[in-house]
Amino acid sequence: MKNYLKKTLILEEKIKTRVKELAETIAKDYTGEPLSVIGLSNGALIFVADLIRGINIPLHLDSLMASSYSGVESTGKIDIVSGMKLPVKNRHVLIVDDILDTGRTITKVIKLVEKGSPLSIKTCVFLDKPSRRVVDYKADYIGFEIEDAFVVGYGLDCNEAFRNLPYIAIVKEEFYK
Ligand code: IMP
Ligand code: MG
Repeated sequence: MKNYLKKTLILEEKIKTRVKELAETIAKDYTGEPLSVIGLSNGALIFVADLIRGINIPLHLDSLMASSYSGVESTGKIDIVSGMKLPVKNRHVLIVDDILDTGRTITKVIKLVEKGSPLSIKTCVFLDKPSRRVVDYKADYIGFEIEDAFVVGYGLDCNEAFRNLPYIAIVKEEFYK
């Protein structure tokens, strides 16, 4: 796999430390409250699994499959491939995604979750690329802010590859060109 990677951006140990910090903050913020965590598949699968194991309060876990990218180009079209299974009425919702890029996915998902009448909706993203925003949006919890580069690993893919990489890296252009 390494032959296709240009540079390591975030090391595994740094990810572990930051995810633990985020989880502790979230646990503190929602103590005593009914919390539903909704992970966006497939990208957020690994992040949400690590994150919730650090959130030391009772919670519900659900997932929602949204799809926007084809290759490395944002298509602008977001498909909700499969929806949530659990009700969120009278619960606080925390939407978890791998990366906040143009902002289209998370804002569309928020609109969908609102229909379930939750008490509140907040968002947690592992990575944030603020320079790429098309829809104005700021996440409530952010793991790392990064430059505008196409990254893979820790759940993030390039044409479905590299999700299993335990760290974040920049892909060589020849891999997707
Ligand atoms: P947005 O709707 O443009 O904010 O895009 C969010 C989705 O695009 C994420 O959930 C990712 O699946 C994908 N994405 C955006 N940037 C990257 C990247 O650098 N690597 C891999 N996937 C990305
Ligand atoms: Mg994704």
